[in-house]
Amino acid sequence: MAISSNTERGAWNSRLGFVLAAAGSAVGLGNIWKFPFEVEAGGGAAFVLLYLFFCFVLCFPVMVTEIAIGRKTKKNAIGAFDALGFPKWNFIGKIGILAGIVILSFYNVVAGWAFGYFFEMVTANFEIGAQFGDYTKDVFKIGLYSIFFMVATSFIVSKGVSSGIERAAKILMPTLIIMIVGILIYALTLPNAFTGVKFYLVPEFSELNLRTIGGALRQAFFSLSLGMGALITYGSYLSRKENIVTSAAMITIFDVGIAFIAGLMLFPIVAYSTGGDMANIEGGAGLIFVALPGVFETLGTTLGAVMGGAFFLLLSFAALTSTVSLLEVPVAYIVDEHKKTRKNAVIISAVIIFVLGLPSLVANGYSAFFSNFITYVGANTSTDFMTFFGHLADVLLLLGGTLIVTFAAYIWKKENLHDEIATGYEGYHDSINKKLIDFAISYLCPVLLGILFVLVVLSNFFGISIIN
Ligand code: PHE
Repeated sequence: MAISSNTERGAWNSRLGFVLAAAGSAVGLGNIWKFPFEVEAGGGAAFVLLYLFFCFVLCFPVMVTEIAIGRKTKKNAIGAFDALGFPKWNFIGKIGILAGIVILSFYNVVAGWAFGYFFEMVTANFEIGAQFGDYTKDVFKIGLYSIFFMVATSFIVSKGVSSGIERAAKILMPTLIIMIVGILIYALTLPNAFTGVKFYLVPEFSELNLRTIGGALRQAFFSLSLGMGALITYGSYLSRKENIVTSAAMITIFDVGIAFIAGLMLFPIVAYSTGGDMANIEGGAGLIFVALPGVFETLGTTLGAVMGGAFFLLLSFAALTSTVSLLEVPVAYIVDEHKKTRKNAVIISAVIIFVLGLPSLVANGYSAFFSNFITYVGANTSTDFMTFFGHLADVLLLLGGTLIVTFAAYIWKKENLHDEIATGYEGYHDSINKKLIDFAISYLCPVLLGILFVLVVLSNFFGISIIN
């Protein structure tokens, strides 16, 4: 097996650095923007339990597999399959890189909104929520935030694995935890906080149907950054001394924990602002960008600016460690396979992705060029584009995930995977973990992920709505 001697390739300085960087990839807009509303709409605590089951039973084995493939080969998402001796299977990595590019192209736009909102909040412009539609049409302003975000991401990635990605994660992730816990404590002391918590978590089993169950698995997969080789790439910088299973467990717990806390923090604030009336709460993009500024306003100008600013900065930081991992996937590929310098690889990837993200950026705006294109694909707003790209991303991730586990179990062979996992984990071969991972990657993951992939394709692209 070829071990890269490429000097542009980096390595993590410590296990903590790896765990924080991977957790940074996982914790993102998905956790804070999406998860709380999925829980609320999907049946509260019943949904949370299901989500935990999916994360630990279905997603965790996929994460271990991705990290093991990366660490074994010390290669990017495509090169890893070549290095294992199966170049025909490197199309899995190609799907992954495509997924990463698609996700980053719209993710960066939303991240730009979040960052822009930080400035609106600290200048106490709480009206911005009501003007959200116009705000997203201000192509120039949104474009600048979005460019800024891409530049910040590129800067971190261009500095390399340990002095860029790892260092940023070591600063941003602890800051993120302090901010989210701070806002949480404050939120829980507000009047009507408990009404908000109840609204979030009261189990409603009637809401659990095929759609919400499928939604939970899609969300878990996206949130853990699986199926596109992000963790193959991050795993490729990991030392053989480290225990993959405990690292993956830490990453999963981190991700689930932050998502859960995000809901515990949001709903009490909302309940406070409505005086405990939760009848007309609107979820998703609506709540965060439209309703939340008004909620912060009810806290008074100064406190509102501080809490609102902290919240949107938190959202921006969470997004930044995710955009970094999304950019690193194509960058690692270009560095490894096309022998470009890291800086050039970053520039090439960032420019392509930014251009691809233009429809998400300007679809609400006035660009004549894009309006033709927009009419052509039938999308009227940037949110339509995001929904479209979001569906496409889900489909690609689920396909990638199904193929990665199937490849590991049946092509590369389980013994090889287990041997790699056992490196750095004494006693793995006799452990229950091995049995669980074995069962999951052989049967559970390929079958369930495969079924969900088919259902999502049918419902999103053929209008056959079994689960939507
Ligand atoms: N996990 C990130 C989130 O929850 C998104 C992401 C997906 C990042 C795939 C990298 C790879 O927001």
